[in-house]
Amino acid sequence: MKPQSLVMVIFGASGDLTRRKLIPALYLLYKHNRLPENFAILGVARTAFTDDEFRERIHLQLLRFVKPEDVNEEKIRSFVSLINYFPMDPADPDEYLRLQPRLLKLDQMIGNGENYIYYLATPPSLYGVIPQYLKNVGLNLSKGPKGNKRIIVEKPFGYDLESALELNNIYYKDAFREDQIFRIDHYLGKETVQNILALRFANTVFEPVWNRNYIDYVEVTAVENMGIEQRGGYFDDAGTLRDMVQNHLIQLVALTAMEPPTAFNPDSFRDELAKVYQSLTPLTEKDINQHIIRGQYTASEGRKAYREEKDVAPDSRTETFLAMKLSISNWRWSGVPFYIRTGKQMPTKVSEIVVHFKPTPFPLFNCAERTCPTANLLIIRIQPNEGIVLKFGLKVPGSGFDVKQVAMDFSYSSLGPIPTEDAYARLIEDCILGDSTLFTRSDAVEACWKYFTPVLEYWKNHPESPLYGYPAGTWGPREADMLIQEQNAEWSNPCKN
Ligand code: BG6
Repeated sequence: MKPQSLVMVIFGASGDLTRRKLIPALYLLYKHNRLPENFAILGVARTAFTDDEFRERIHLQLLRFVKPEDVNEEKIRSFVSLINYFPMDPADPDEYLRLQPRLLKLDQMIGNGENYIYYLATPPSLYGVIPQYLKNVGLNLSKGPKGNKRIIVEKPFGYDLESALELNNIYYKDAFREDQIFRIDHYLGKETVQNILALRFANTVFEPVWNRNYIDYVEVTAVENMGIEQRGGYFDDAGTLRDMVQNHLIQLVALTAMEPPTAFNPDSFRDELAKVYQSLTPLTEKDINQHIIRGQYTASEGRKAYREEKDVAPDSRTETFLAMKLSISNWRWSGVPFYIRTGKQMPTKVSEIVVHFKPTPFPLFNCAERTCPTANLLIIRIQPNEGIVLKFGLKVPGSGFDVKQVAMDFSYSSLGPIPTEDAYARLIEDCILGDSTLFTRSDAVEACWKYFTPVLEYWKNHPESPLYGYPAGTWGPREADMLIQEQNAEWSNPCKN
């Protein structure tokens, strides 16, 4: 249920995420009257802005980061008037003694509901201390039907299994109940990602063939044509595995692979996701060596090398590209490889899942072209050109009986404008309503880290293990192509599909 009043406290209010994603998302919710009637934002960061200076800054940022069709000057002005600022160092426990009365005063001004959402858009190093310091001053406690306190934490939640366990079991468990904790992965806020569920579970035609009997292999791609922008400090420490694979890509794998939930509620849905993570076949050293390819972009055609980026070590061995083969040990997927790949500075920005079905038992017809139509493909395009394409074989008109591959192409744009930019808005609204379905539960985070931590450890203990260079603007190292060639296949080219 939507509360009557709510204060959203954003830690990391002067940062990139707040500027690019959170404030535009909150503005969209405001514009569409989806925020509680009495609402205020309290931005928290170390820089010494006054309320007015911060509002001015937000105003300018909104004009820059909101799509032109969503800009409404009058709405922006009234939205900005809901924003307040509190300069403090979130790493200093004493500062929370000043935060508490400021928050209470703001709350009294808007309705005295004591409903707070804390958004942690800070560097991950602060994810542990903030809940503890909020608890020290009693800002964690929910009071009966009113006065909900919720906390949204950005990814990566943890640095490896040990740190994720520590966050879950010490810092969070001690301060908030699981139903107050919203671990956000914005991929789950995307319409097209949610639609994987509808495609699979609102239809009968796909599910009977969605298994090892009919599916040969699955590809999951999420590549970007931009580099690391101004985020060198964060990225050089994190790398692609923590930034993209352990969360966004593995979510896409899980949605593709999960069993139908018994009901669409937070626990049933998240139970099934957790089961996929728990069924990931553990990676041996041999798998890590042979089935995980890391790359780092090098200078090419006017584009900088990763090592020349701001705040990146000149001898950095951080990966900006990763391709891997993973397997799921369960009845549905045993023997079906999942190939995933992600990278920065690739030729284009695209996220998609390609399900490759097995060929027909024997080829009855001649192929009219090189791509033999005996194997069906289902392409789920997450972004851009959001849609679903089914490829199948049909007879070429005329004499003879040659068959070629044709496509049945559904585009989301036929349903109206796709709110792909609004993933954060969707998830923030869910948190306001107390719906945690699309947020990651503690057991899922732990299972993912359990799977990936041996990879991080292996790389740490084997500094000589390969990190392949690839020229910026290309599809990544050649070794990634060789990975999928094992399957007698090549990576789908999203630019051609
Ligand atoms: C973020 C990563 O979580 O996702 C970024 O930190 C990445 O490095 C971004 O660029 C990609 O998200 P999207 O929605 O643009 O595909």
